Amino acid sequence: MAHSQAWLCYRTVSEPGFRQYLTGVYTQEGDAVLDSGIRELQLAAQGMFGVELPRTEAPEEAGIRLQVSPELKTEAYRIYPGEAAYTIEGGSSAGVLYGIFQLLRRLQAEVPVQEIRESQTPDNPLRMLNHWDNMDGSIERGYSGKSFFFQNDEILVNDRTRDYARLAASVGINGVVINNVNVKHAATSLITGRYFDKLRSLQHIFAGYGIRLFLSLNFAAPLELGSLDTSDPLDAGVVSWWQEKLQEVYEALPGLGGFLIKADSEGRPGPFTYGRTHADGANMLADIIKPWGGLIIWRCFVYNCKQDWRDRKTDRARAGYDHFQPLDGTFHDNVILQIKNGPMDFQVREPVSPLFGGLEATNQMLEVQIAQEYTGQQRHVCYLIPMFREVLDFRTHCAPEKDTVRDIASGKTHGRTNCGMAAVANTGDDSNWTGHDLAAANWYGFGRLSFDPSLTSEEIAREWATLTFGTDPRVLAVVENILMGSWKTYEKYTSPLGIGWMVNPNHHYGPNVDGYEYDRWGTYHRADHKGIGVDRSTEGTGYTTQYKEPNASMYNTVETCPEELLLFFHYVPYNHRLSGGTTLIQHIYNTHFEGVEEADAMVRMWLELAGKVPEEIHRSTASRLEEQRLHAREWRDMVNTYFYRKSGIPDELNRTIY
Ligand code: GCU
Repeated sequence: MAHSQAWLCYRTVSEPGFRQYLTGVYTQEGDAVLDSGIRELQLAAQGMFGVELPRTEAPEEAGIRLQVSPELKTEAYRIYPGEAAYTIEGGSSAGVLYGIFQLLRRLQAEVPVQEIRESQTPDNPLRMLNHWDNMDGSIERGYSGKSFFFQNDEILVNDRTRDYARLAASVGINGVVINNVNVKHAATSLITGRYFDKLRSLQHIFAGYGIRLFLSLNFAAPLELGSLDTSDPLDAGVVSWWQEKLQEVYEALPGLGGFLIKADSEGRPGPFTYGRTHADGANMLADIIKPWGGLIIWRCFVYNCKQDWRDRKTDRARAGYDHFQPLDGTFHDNVILQIKNGPMDFQVREPVSPLFGGLEATNQMLEVQIAQEYTGQQRHVCYLIPMFREVLDFRTHCAPEKDTVRDIASGKTHGRTNCGMAAVANTGDDSNWTGHDLAAANWYGFGRLSFDPSLTSEEIAREWATLTFGTDPRVLAVVENILMGSWKTYEKYTSPLGIGWMVNPNHHYGPNVDGYEYDRWGTYHRADHKGIGVDRSTEGTGYTTQYKEPNASMYNTVETCPEELLLFFHYVPYNHRLSGGTTLIQHIYNTHFEGVEEADAMVRMWLELAGKVPEEIHRSTASRLEEQRLHAREWRDMVNTYFYRKSGIPDELNRTIY
């Protein structure tokens, strides 16, 4: 199936400065990654300048020189113009590749080449995409078509694989998990000979772009693949089964990054079945793959999904910390705990997980979700980079300085190197990769942010828009405007002040205020006729105590709790006055009306771009924005009507609430 080149489309540029260097490209070293870099330069030279760029063996003939310089950090680059040549240096060939992509980004933005003089070391050692692709070709929480990694229990390797690797590497991704964290059916057998050949081909393509392949692992594999009757991590038979199995895997797939594991979560098997801890489980596997440099990335998404509604002490938000904080310091060096940004599950607004700051002697990784499971499923535009920025900038107060989530994830707080950021991917086999054309900004943005967390959301939005649509200032202004407002707009017409959920259970699209309230899954908003919110203070579930001071006290009282999270932390009466002077109920009504107006405005702005962006993109984005606009009304009316009827308090502005 034909697919787009997304942000690597290399349109013609008018700034001619770089032409002088297009005489040839030279590199003394040679490997697959440098070859990829050269191919990319050739493609770009053709697209931007219509020039065939030859590879040359003679340095004096080359206007572009690629150079691996050991004095640079491994993945760092330095790029600069000179009299005779433009130089791209990297601490490794991957560093050179990142330098090439940076140069091409700048050239696409029409920056004069004499001004392109930059150096950069990626902040996060690991910058990963987690695909939730199933081997039958479906994608869990996938909103962009089917998998391009799997079909009918087979692995796909084709043109698309390489283009995927190019796109991922262009934004600095260096690790990819190809299969769903819920490892079932054929995926359990990815660690068997049946799949090694195809995995090796995949690995080979990825390696050419500096990307390591990882797999999600089924903790119960000894039971399901072997003939054992247990997968107890401390059972000698289980340990030797894994030893043999993983040795076979690493012999077939040297360079495999390691394994991602979801254990004891939402029905997945894990060490709890055998009365063992998560450290027992993770360390056992980590010790086995240590000789090959393998990593065990262990997810902290562990909670009791069957909480009784009468039980007001159990709190899903507490679960991650309650399970993992007591194990701090017990995980081995090559184990990384992967922690979702918030304590619940990728809601439009959540506080930062208190595990960040709560763990001091454990490798950690931040997990975010660019698949828009709860944020409009790529039918609505919701640019998530501003949310990720807030998460990264959050001060945990676990140390007097270098205490932000960014510092922790990048390893600076505790001097670690097995750490970084991962995103649940938003891609599929749709021709534009992400269903909604504007959702590609989240993929692009996640990569850029994980490489360089000092970038602002605006800078990233502008870069992406320039690469995708060109430099027309009107187009850039509109696209940037739509993207930058979209998260707050989505929040306004959906669930207020951090309460979250209110979606249809299971598929999670569309409004359903009580959908989870009366579900056994137990994620409650506790709305009644007097007020709404979950008391997570010391009077309630005590969740606030999981934070370090002064955050714990700040969240603990209604007066000091940041307003956007008020209902996450407190049960608040409808007539409570917010800082702006409106009551809580009036705030709910107002924001829902505003959210719809903003969604309408996005459609109007986009329509102005007819003829200025490719027709196909214009048409399909317009139709998604139209759906969003209508759907925002449904959200507004359902939520407002619900609270009007619960509270009996009318809208001060007399707007229609049913
Ligand atoms: C959410 C999501 C699931 C997913 C889970 C996870 O609950 O709805 O589809 O499996 O997160 O992160 O493991």
